[in-house]
Amino acid sequence: MKILDYTSLSSQKSPINQAFHDQGIIGVRGVPGFEDAHKAFLQSSRDFIGLSNEKRSQYTPPDSYGRGWSYGIESFNNITDTFKGSYYATYPEEDAKTPNIWPDKDVPDFKKNYLNLVKIIFETGKEILPLINVSIENLSSTARMLYYGPIHNPKAVEWCGEHRDHGLLTGLCPGTYYLDGKKVPQPSGTGLFIRGEEIVAPDDVLLFQIGEVAELVTNGAVTATDHQVRKAIGGYERYNLAVFIMPPFTYAIESTLTKYNDRFSPGVSYGDWHQRSYDKYNQT
Ligand SMILES: [Fe+2]
Repeated sequence: MKILDYTSLSSQKSPINQAFHDQGIIGVRGVPGFEDAHKAFLQSSRDFIGLSNEKRSQYTPPDSYGRGWSYGIESFNNITDTFKGSYYATYPEEDAKTPNIWPDKDVPDFKKNYLNLVKIIFETGKEILPLINVSIENLSSTARMLYYGPIHNPKAVEWCGEHRDHGLLTGLCPGTYYLDGKKVPQPSGTGLFIRGEEIVAPDDVLLFQIGEVAELVTNGAVTATDHQVRKAIGGYERYNLAVFIMPPFTYAIESTLTKYNDRFSPGVSYGDWHQRSYDKYNQT
C-alpha cells in the first residue's frame, strides 16, 4: 500500500491517482490530530460495547438502520451479519434527515469523540477528492462505527463479504483488534482485503478507498475498490470507523461509463442512485 505524507498530499497528484488505479487504496500519514482522536474514539466505542444489551438497544431506532446502533440484524447479499454491530451517524449533523442518536446518558463523551474523528476523516477526504479531479460542492457523509464480535466457529461467515462502496470516497481507520480486553496486532490473514491482498496499516495511517460514484464521475480514471473484511477466529474483537463521503442527494451524476447501468442512467440524482444501490445489496 502506498503511504503518503499529509503535508505533501497536494504535490502528489500523480502517485495518488496511480495508487488508486493500481491498488484501490492509499494511506495518509501525519493527519493532524488523527492518532489522539482515534484513541479517544476507541475508548468511547469500547465503553459503549461494554454496556448491557438492554442499554445498547435503547439506541436502536425502530424506523431505520441508518442512525444509531444495530447489532446482528443487517443483511448484505441476503447473508445476515450476525456478528457485526454498527453505530451510524450523518455528518455534518445538519444534513441528517432524521436526527442522529447519541448515547449521552450512558457514554457521555461518545458523541464528541465520534464526531471529532469523523470530522478529521471527512476534511482529509475533501482535500483528496480534487486531486482525483472530483470537484463537488456541499459534500456530506454517513459515518459507521463497526464492531465485529468474537467468533469461535471456523464455519462462520466472513465479517464482511466482498463488495464496493457506492459513494465517492471512503475514509477508514486501521482496524483495531482486542483479545480478552487487550489491544493486539491484526492476526495475519484477517481484516481488510483489497483485490485479494491483505492490508496491514500502522496505527498512525488513515486509509482511503474509491467508491463507485468517483469511478462514474471520473469516467473510469479511478476504479471503485473491491474489498472485504475477513474474520478472525478465536475470540478477537475488531473496531473500526468508516466515513462514506458522498455528494448531496440532489447532485446529478454524469458519466460515459456503462458498467453500472443496472443502477446508473445519465443525470440520475445521487439520492436515486443511493436508493437503487441500497435495494440491490439488500434484496430479500
Ligand atoms: Fe465497504
